[in-house]
Amino acid sequence: MPAFQTARGMRDLLPEEAERLNYIICKARETAQYYGYREVITPVVEPYELLSAKSGEEIRSRMFTFKDLGDRTVALRPEFTASIARLATKALKNEPKPLRIFSVGSVYRYDEPQRGRYREFWQSNFELMGSNRPEADAETILLTNSLIKATGLRNYSFKIGHIGVIREILSQENVDEKAQNAILQLMDKKEYGKAFRLIKQEKCRKTLQGLLELNGNTAFETVEKIKKHVAGYEKAVAAAENLLGILQLVTESGCPIETVEPVFARGLEYYTGLVFEVYVPELDTALGGGGRYDRLIEVFGGEPTPAVGVAHGLDRIALAMQTQTTALSPRRDKRAVVIPVKQELKAEALKISQMLREAGVSVEFEVMGRKMAKALEDADRRKVDFAVIVGEKELKEGAVVVRDMMKHEQTTIEIGRLTEKIRGKDE
Ligand code: HAM
Repeated sequence: MPAFQTARGMRDLLPEEAERLNYIICKARETAQYYGYREVITPVVEPYELLSAKSGEEIRSRMFTFKDLGDRTVALRPEFTASIARLATKALKNEPKPLRIFSVGSVYRYDEPQRGRYREFWQSNFELMGSNRPEADAETILLTNSLIKATGLRNYSFKIGHIGVIREILSQENVDEKAQNAILQLMDKKEYGKAFRLIKQEKCRKTLQGLLELNGNTAFETVEKIKKHVAGYEKAVAAAENLLGILQLVTESGCPIETVEPVFARGLEYYTGLVFEVYVPELDTALGGGGRYDRLIEVFGGEPTPAVGVAHGLDRIALAMQTQTTALSPRRDKRAVVIPVKQELKAEALKISQMLREAGVSVEFEVMGRKMAKALEDADRRKVDFAVIVGEKELKEGAVVVRDMMKHEQTTIEIGRLTEKIRGKDE
């Protein structure tokens, strides 16, 4: 048999990596709770039409698409937003608004594998549906700020923009939606020359070129300049004002925004308003991104519902934590090994293990039949807090021996007081 490897772009997460990912998932779930988002679990495999409807060419061409045995064209989800929009048109249609929905799981894109770019990766995803107000947009940035802060990352920064500015200019110049999407896709890839060549109207092209060169000393100054620059395109001015409103709310709530990018397109096609991403200096790819998509739910056949959301790339957050050597905050559970001194005491030792586990202690039972010295050596290697030694003599008196592995001290203790002894350490 050949030595099997993972498929290209797929990874095994070994215990330390899995621990880090789970730590971030915990922080994302806590963030969801703090902000009132309820969790849903949606399928990894979805109909191709649902996932491709408004995702845009870039993602569409990178989906893992296949026929199931019933000849249906399906795909592995490349993101969560389409699935949540589906829920909003049906199962959650009658829920009171705003609707706040959280999901976490693996998503799949046939991206070229490199540092921080995988074909299977994890996202935590937050969608806020039913409000078109800037406080809803602000919330998605603020919760992202809370999550990134909770992971212990430093020096992260937000980049924000507004798709409405570009789309409204193009719409006023009668550029149809298909052409708009093609232009935005090219802008997302920073292929501005190609994008501008698709625009026939000279005034429109010049305005967009001018936007690209525009820069302010502060985020506020940049938005003010955008507003002035697009004067004459009424709805684009309104979009810039909307961006300003969001910027004010976010910064006044204590989350600084350094960069406003006047021509900021994101890969996905459904965005209509705010778009944003978050970065750390150690990585050149975004740790998360999102924005407003006010028309997706009606495209899916639902009631017109304004919506805004964000997804965080958990593998990239993990990578950034490793690069910044951010420690995971220490686990609070105490860990012990339980070692029966002889075979006949196994059942009794297992009973004691159960008692400890039920009291919240993590217990590894000695399953290798090792002699005491070897078992203690192994306990040392595993860095547990205590070894509980179950011996015949002590057991007769309703007691066991507890060895504090850090202090190298051991005492005999009544079984009734064992939990207190182990859990009480450091408290
Ligand atoms: P996205 O920007 O396509 O947005 O993905 C969000 C995040 O997923 C990225 O910022 C990045 O951290 C991570 N990511 C993307 N591709 C990869 C990859 N190949 N390997 C590792 N991480 C990756 C969305 O998915 C939207 N659904 C966000 C959203 C929700 N917009 C509104 N609601």
